[in-house]
Amino acid sequence: MPDTLITQGKIKPELGQYLVRMGLIGQDGHNIGATQDTRLILEQYATGIGFERPVILFHVGEIFVRKYLATIHNQPNIDLAQVEAKFREIVSKFVADARGLRDYLNARVFVHEIPPPTANEENFLQVNNFVCPPVLRASVYETYNRVLREAASAGGLIMCETRDYMNDNGLLRAEYEFDGVHANPKYADMSLSRCLEIWLVGRTSDQTARYASWWKQLPMATDAARTPLTISEIFTPFTPEQIATIKQSMGSFEPAACSTPPLDWAHLPPTTNYPKFNSKITYADLSATGLKVLHDVLLGGPLYDIMKARLGGDFSIVNTRLVHSQAHGDDGIGPQFFHFDGCPPGIYRGLIYLTDVDENTGPFAYVPQPDAEPVLVTGKTGSLVLFDANAIKHRATPPRTANRIAIDLIILVHPARCPRIAHSRSKCTWPIDPYMFGLTDNCYPSVPSKRWFHAALLAPQATFKVVKTLTPEEMAFK
Ligand SMILES: [Fe+2]
Repeated sequence: MPDTLITQGKIKPELGQYLVRMGLIGQDGHNIGATQDTRLILEQYATGIGFERPVILFHVGEIFVRKYLATIHNQPNIDLAQVEAKFREIVSKFVADARGLRDYLNARVFVHEIPPPTANEENFLQVNNFVCPPVLRASVYETYNRVLREAASAGGLIMCETRDYMNDNGLLRAEYEFDGVHANPKYADMSLSRCLEIWLVGRTSDQTARYASWWKQLPMATDAARTPLTISEIFTPFTPEQIATIKQSMGSFEPAACSTPPLDWAHLPPTTNYPKFNSKITYADLSATGLKVLHDVLLGGPLYDIMKARLGGDFSIVNTRLVHSQAHGDDGIGPQFFHFDGCPPGIYRGLIYLTDVDENTGPFAYVPQPDAEPVLVTGKTGSLVLFDANAIKHRATPPRTANRIAIDLIILVHPARCPRIAHSRSKCTWPIDPYMFGLTDNCYPSVPSKRWFHAALLAPQATFKVVKTLTPEEMAFK
């Protein structure tokens, strides 16, 4: 029976020391997202990539299950209910440890089921020194995996399931066998690429304590009850000349798949198989000339103070994506279904129509109250609306009678001491680390280093709110 790795906020010293060596905990005892250990912070930013939450893959229980099988395989009548109870006991400890480490390190945790057993009885005997019919092994392994699935999902952990590796008898399919006992690299590749895809879609490292140190000082939230914004009135701040300049500054429209995905920006997986991809919705960059218009009007013009008040703080337009939606008669695709976004804290959204939009030409739609009828946001070219995409359910209604072009704005609220920029990187959504991220040539004002980084955000006077971690004394590093 394993000990618990973390008890009442205290981690086992040997594991704590290992995590310090791995750079996941600073010398101050705080996790990498909250530490003020200068060496660790400098190490993070020396890469130029910025910071994101650590990822841990738990693969636990296979040896336990095999050893347990050794103790019961001779019993004439195996009581599966008793087996299940035993597994529940052990799995609850595994899940507690996985959750403990997740919370302790602010990590993303994946839990992998144990691989289905192989059919080869001879190899099984050779390795384990006992005989156990494949049918019993399959049933016991599946019992363990079912118990693990239930406990992990109740604990809010991400599961990697094994049913695709299984034949009809619950045994490992021959194509995934390595030596008659173990699974092969193809099995590992498939599982890891699934983890990678989930990781790519859900990267919002900004839920770290360091980021929270400043956004929590602002009157913002990510739920409808507390957000300062929900949805704004419609603004029409642009002149016809400014709209014309923006339209002349549009790049070419392409599907969302990013062939060279950057690590410092959130984006969809670089595969066109992803269900959100469709040739009917394409994206383009806005060049620095068009971004200058947005900068002058939204980050410096009369609207700037209004927006600042509505958003709860100073802000930059960290991403500007031109979205072209082709008229179509069938059902909605991806963002054309009602949904909430998973924006990181401090990210708000804006929409500027570049075509006239009525009920039939792709209006933005939102649900103001949980049971209310959707409201359509119609408007002439140049109409601007701001909204909190985490707080109001919304969708882009599929355009029926004409194509729609709109600008999708990703707005990052930041302390006033940071410089304000307007930037475009159309294949991505938001930066992974709000302290440092790469910029393209499509940026106004231009930034020669091609990097957003403001050391003031790391200043020691920032108030850090951290999950309870150990002091160096408690961890006995020396
Ligand atoms: Fe959305």
